[in-house]
Amino acid sequence: MPITFARRMQHTRPSDIREILVKTSGGDYISFAGGVPDPELFPVERLSELAQKVLREHPARALQYGPTPGLLPLREKIVALMAKIGVATDSDHVQIVTGAQQGIGLSGTIFLDPGDVVIVERPTYSAAINAFDLFRPTYLDVESDDEGPDIEQVRQILHGEQPVKLAYVIPNFQNPSGRLWSAARRQAFLEAFAGTETLIVEDDPYGQLAFKGEPPQPIKASDQDERVVYLGSFSKVLCPGLRVGWIVASSEIMAQYNLAKQNHDLHTSAFDQELINAYLEEEDLSAQIERLRSSYAARCQAMLTALGNEFPAGTRFTRPEGGLFTWVELPGGINARKILALAMREKVSFIPGEGFYATQPCPSTMRLNFSAMGPEKIEQGIAILGRIVRNLLDQSNRQV
Ligand SMILES: Cc1ncc(COP(=O)(O)O)c(C=O)c1O
Repeated sequence: MPITFARRMQHTRPSDIREILVKTSGGDYISFAGGVPDPELFPVERLSELAQKVLREHPARALQYGPTPGLLPLREKIVALMAKIGVATDSDHVQIVTGAQQGIGLSGTIFLDPGDVVIVERPTYSAAINAFDLFRPTYLDVESDDEGPDIEQVRQILHGEQPVKLAYVIPNFQNPSGRLWSAARRQAFLEAFAGTETLIVEDDPYGQLAFKGEPPQPIKASDQDERVVYLGSFSKVLCPGLRVGWIVASSEIMAQYNLAKQNHDLHTSAFDQELINAYLEEEDLSAQIERLRSSYAARCQAMLTALGNEFPAGTRFTRPEGGLFTWVELPGGINARKILALAMREKVSFIPGEGFYATQPCPSTMRLNFSAMGPEKIEQGIAILGRIVRNLLDQSNRQV
């Protein structure tokens, strides 16, 4: 029987990442593909004890339908977490969502009509592009350097012919590039929006994973005119299997998120929220974050050193100061998909960069995750990738 799906489904693409992850999830792979925390660092025993406690002490709250905005004690704790990064808010302005990913999707639902213009970074988070694609926006992407986006380009877009509905940005240790916007660039970015009606969705799952010092302040901290919608997540600081993220926004915007979420899933898993709430009550999240930071800093260093040693001259890669990824730009226009096909034969995987571009994908880029493998595997895997890249470069030089 022929089935007619909604036209919007023609505009959604499968996620490269999810497909590569499925193929390479076996334990014998050296995987630089996922954006995943190290499972060895999940606080498994503590969560297991707390899960039992939650079911013992709050069975109805944990297993019953709950309110759409989310569990109030958890929202209050998020208010305190936000205060630590310079964002003053209250629990009425916090909406719990089923991962920041749901926050992205709901942002599409409440803000985007077909043809609406969205500013994104170049490159940007592929699953945000995929989520927005359903709403058929027009993307205008801005180049970035190690300080953040090109502000002149942002200004030109904002004051160009087409009105701009939304900007979607990841200022802290971006996925995929690992870049951190400088304080000056953040300020200039926000200032560029003055006098416009363009909203900013700031996605910040990685800010807490700064290798040194305090987590950077989000642009939401300097938002005077309720322009910025902030998306947070427990996925990278605790564990992504508990699907809990949050949105901080103005009352007017919050009401729309609430409506859209009701229609989507009524509320985020009450059990997941209870468990995270209990963890925050009884444990020191900052101690857990400290463990992650020091492990990932060492792994990042191992990867950068190996890239410097193994990849050919002319390769460029970012030097992240936090987060989970580095971004590689290959010399000689080598196609990263070719590298992946060869690497998978040797049980090494990563994500080719093409999927991270909203327009005009650059095929000679790769996203490498450094959090999921220990330093030894990182060295082995990068040595294999480096050999493949050097061979491909030699071949293409011979053909010229
Ligand atoms: C930039 C960015 N936003 C959102 C998400 C999704 O996070 P969550 O697990 O909270 O849905 C990810 C996950 O990798 C991400 O990298």
